[in-house]
Amino acid sequence: MSAEPLSVVPSPKDLPIPVPRTARELHALDLKAKQRIYHDWESRSYEEKFSISYDERCIDYARDRFRKVVPEGAGFSRVLEVGAGTGFFLINLSLAGCLEEAQLEATDISEGMLEICARNGAEHGLDIATRQGDAESLPYEDDAFDLVIGHAFLHHLPVPGAAIREMFRVLKPGGTLVIAGEPSELGDRMSWVVKNATYRSFQAVTSLPRLNRLRRLSVQEAGGSDEDAAMATLEHVVDLHTFRPRDLEKMARLAGFKELRVVTEELTAHWLGWAVRTLEGQLRPDLLGPRWSYSAFYGYLALSWVDERLLTPILPRSVFYNVILRARKPYPS
Ligand SMILES: C[S@@+](CC[C@H](N)C(=O)[O-])C[C@H]1O[C@@H](n2cnc3c(N)ncnc32)[C@H](O)[C@@H]1O
Repeated sequence: MSAEPLSVVPSPKDLPIPVPRTARELHALDLKAKQRIYHDWESRSYEEKFSISYDERCIDYARDRFRKVVPEGAGFSRVLEVGAGTGFFLINLSLAGCLEEAQLEATDISEGMLEICARNGAEHGLDIATRQGDAESLPYEDDAFDLVIGHAFLHHLPVPGAAIREMFRVLKPGGTLVIAGEPSELGDRMSWVVKNATYRSFQAVTSLPRLNRLRRLSVQEAGGSDEDAAMATLEHVVDLHTFRPRDLEKMARLAGFKELRVVTEELTAHWLGWAVRTLEGQLRPDLLGPRWSYSAFYGYLALSWVDERLLTPILPRSVFYNVILRARKPYPS
């Protein structure tokens, strides 16, 4: 297949996009098409890559993020997750009892992600209605939902403020917005230092005689196709933004939201998380057993405690990695 000129690349609404086979063809696509194609491809391995599950570990994670900004007892009848991926946040929140009897809906630019989301929901007794769409022009009517949530998706959008305006539009007056898991600007810069140091140390150690057996095979060496290798090159292209907590707050205010609350969290816990994830990307998979996962998880919990109890009271909120935003759509006056 030859490289398509940019002007004839369909917009997300004109799909299907012909799947490009080479890195050159992929990189010629417009940003939204890249997001869609990359996430469709990533959906097959997404849950394994991010250690996503629907058990106590992830249920606690989702509940803790949500309860930091939404009190117990808040009830919702219709809930939408935007950029829902495979349903990690929506399903775990529901299993945690935070959404009670609400009607659950999910949208994402990637059809592949949504198929897995609906299937995951069904496996947990949840009926999730899905609609493929772009967060910057949501495929829902005005004033439709009591609660709109999003987790780790806003940083992929070319114009995040447009998505926040759309979330405002589809919320009922009095409705609540919760966005969690977005990378802060400073937190992200620090995590790059950790990722780089881990990567370089691993490469240095495994360049010693016989230790290179510890290295994971490349996509092609492991039997992946050239297409897989080309897709993997998009990983860093689809991450577009990091946020200063006050910028996220400003975007929400400009969209019309009131009762804003911005919380940041995770510093050392996130450094550990990135070191672990970087090593997982480099190490031979058979060396990563359950003992590895448990050590990583309990290490993460211990450092989360340090971040929350010891560091949050003394450090500025902008140094932490994750930003959570809660806001309310006011009633018309
Ligand atoms: C890092 S994943 C997060 C998925 C899920 N919320 C989670 O926490 O596991 C980012 C998601 O944003 C979606 N996405 C990217 N751009 C989008 C857009 N313009 N509109 C809607 N979803 C988008 C991707 O398809 C992907 O599923």
